Amino acid sequence: MEKLEMLYEGKAKRIYRTNKPGVFWVQYKDDATAFNGEKRAQIMGKGELNNRITSIFFRMLKEKGIDNHFIEELSATEQLVKQVTIIPLEVVVRNVAAGSLAKRLGMEEGRALPYPVVEFYYKDDTLGDPLVNDSHIDVLGIATADDRALLREMALKVNDVLVPYMKERNVILVDFKLEFGRTEDGQILLADEISPDTCRFWDADTMEKLDKDRFRRDLGNVEDAYKEILKRIGGETHV
Ligand code: C5P
Repeated sequence: MEKLEMLYEGKAKRIYRTNKPGVFWVQYKDDATAFNGEKRAQIMGKGELNNRITSIFFRMLKEKGIDNHFIEELSATEQLVKQVTIIPLEVVVRNVAAGSLAKRLGMEEGRALPYPVVEFYYKDDTLGDPLVNDSHIDVLGIATADDRALLREMALKVNDVLVPYMKERNVILVDFKLEFGRTEDGQILLADEISPDTCRFWDADTMEKLDKDRFRRDLGNVEDAYKEILKRIGGETHV
């Protein structure tokens, strides 16, 4: 497999075309951004940690019947994925009030929600990824009612698998963000990444934050927290 030209550079990853039709090459970067790119830093080893963590989660989800774009891990920071066109929606699932939900609804952080709350955000940096409802998604022509129902169902399935999986590892899955893409033949697949950049993970005993909030809120030890998550899900790293 040959890596060809770069197609896209995001905040945390670069995507390359390959000589195999339908296959993309992803390289994870050490760059960290928050607040829609206003806060930036380099976190040594983050690219490797997120590549390893995402690979473990995506392999496990595939085994549990949740189809996704992951093909194989190539190196410490690289993986092969199926080519998809990303649907411009961030699908967030929340089990515990935190972050923007706690702020928006005036809830105390840490309050367990009676059932998982699913939200859609419109992926648009210039607009700051606004929260959108079904009518907004319809008016914008992003996804049909059937597609929205499928996205919600798939996101809740991921939650049903990840919550007990993390609980067994003494981690509370507070919330997370997923992205989905369409293959050339129209199939919707789970895509992007699942990592401490895109999830809130709290240690179940100490409530210590083991995710990107350590960077967002200047709590320090960001890399150690990501390493701890990788360790708990059985991965190894050389960083
Ligand atoms: O900030 P907020 O509380 O809305 O984030 C909810 C979840 O979605 C968190 O786990 C956060 O890490 C993730 N998220 C993300 N990318 C964004 C916004 C949120 O991964 N652009």
